[in-house]
Amino acid sequence: MKYKAPRGTRDIYGDEVAYWHLIEKVSLELFQSYQYEELRTPIFEQTGLFCSGIGDQTDIVSKEMYTFEDKGGRSITLRPEGTAPVVRAAIENRLVGNGKVTKLFYRGPMFRYERPQAGRYRQFHQTGVELLGSISPLLDAEIILVGTKLFSKLGLDGLTVHLNSVGCPVCRPVIREQLKSFIQANLDNLCSDCQTRFDKNPLRILDCKNDKCQKYFLGLPSSTKVLCQDCKDHFNFLIEYLEAANIEYTIDSKLVRGLDYYTKTVFEIRSNVLGAQNAICGGGRYDNLFKQLGGSSISAVGFAFGMERTVIAMQEQGIKAEEEHTPDVYIVTLGHPAKIRGFVLLDFLREKGLEGKLSEEDRSLNAQMKSASKANAKAALILGEDELEKGVAIIKDLKKREQVEVELTGDKIYESLLEIKRKGAN
Ligand code: HAM
Repeated sequence: MKYKAPRGTRDIYGDEVAYWHLIEKVSLELFQSYQYEELRTPIFEQTGLFCSGIGDQTDIVSKEMYTFEDKGGRSITLRPEGTAPVVRAAIENRLVGNGKVTKLFYRGPMFRYERPQAGRYRQFHQTGVELLGSISPLLDAEIILVGTKLFSKLGLDGLTVHLNSVGCPVCRPVIREQLKSFIQANLDNLCSDCQTRFDKNPLRILDCKNDKCQKYFLGLPSSTKVLCQDCKDHFNFLIEYLEAANIEYTIDSKLVRGLDYYTKTVFEIRSNVLGAQNAICGGGRYDNLFKQLGGSSISAVGFAFGMERTVIAMQEQGIKAEEEHTPDVYIVTLGHPAKIRGFVLLDFLREKGLEGKLSEEDRSLNAQMKSASKANAKAALILGEDELEKGVAIIKDLKKREQVEVELTGDKIYESLLEIKRKGAN
């Protein structure tokens, strides 16, 4: 029986890995420069966390969760996103409170039972940041700034920031009513999911994935016009900060995001090279989630970006992420005693920081030298019976085609190889 990776999952290997390393490195440096600290939460949580946090009417909770009963009869869900777990962990470990702002970042696999297509998977990876403990629009602006900065550091362009406000419990009913009266005339033409949402959670209609429904949302009146004064002020201050920081944005009244916890600001960063799955990053403010999950009243804002979509966008734009792994030395051995010596020597050289290879199989000198060239090694170290007897090794600079005999001690060999490496770098 041959097995395949489950539908909607993929293996990451070869040249693609360099992109992952680069994104991880650039984002880590950026987050640390903004004083975000890493939080690692479990990959599975109690199911209730997501039902209460994300909302029962969302696609994620109603259709896409990987939920199962564990052997102890508990309902467990593989995390579909990172924000509810971060809030759970912040409450449980008392990471928030006393008026301080807690800045966290996280990364890892998330799981959603979606219809797989390019850029959409059932296991995908997010990196996210969450700023916990303040209602100031300055923090919404910081979050959007960090997101745009990250992508520009990775060399991406063709990105647009889509921005909206979904209001708060005071003005949300007005936004809902405005939407309902706009939709009403076409309700019969919408899919059955949208018709259910119309009564239960009308804002969710706007993130319907059915293209047929989407055409009825054109010309939707702007929700920002019916916000309460508090939300209006918040939105206008955010815009002021974004403009001061030269961040371009588009106000998009159709943007509500597929999670119920948002209040006030919602945003997405979209790429013009990603096709249908163009949202590379999404986020917003969630001022009620802490309370909803049993904590005190803590306001927060954050985003998460998709690693896979970021890699695809970088590749589409021809951005290179290469990791040079050419060995500093290829150890060629002839005979068993030489191989043992070579094995120990290579370990010593690796400890010193050199990269090396050793032929595992017993092959001829010629074959091993060919492998050394193929691997693009800077030097070959040749060790046979004669060399062992004389207490030397032959080191050949493969670029200059010069060879020397070096005393067979770790230090002497290391110095000689380092010299070749330095010369090669100049
Ligand atoms: P989200 O928009 O559901 O937000 O996901 C964020 C990003 O994850 C998306 O923009 C996309 O790049 C990536 N993503 C989502 N689903 C998939 C998928 N099936 N396959 C590949 N990539 C995907 C959240 O999850 C929120 N927790 C973000 C947030 C943080 N809001 C506040 N703080």
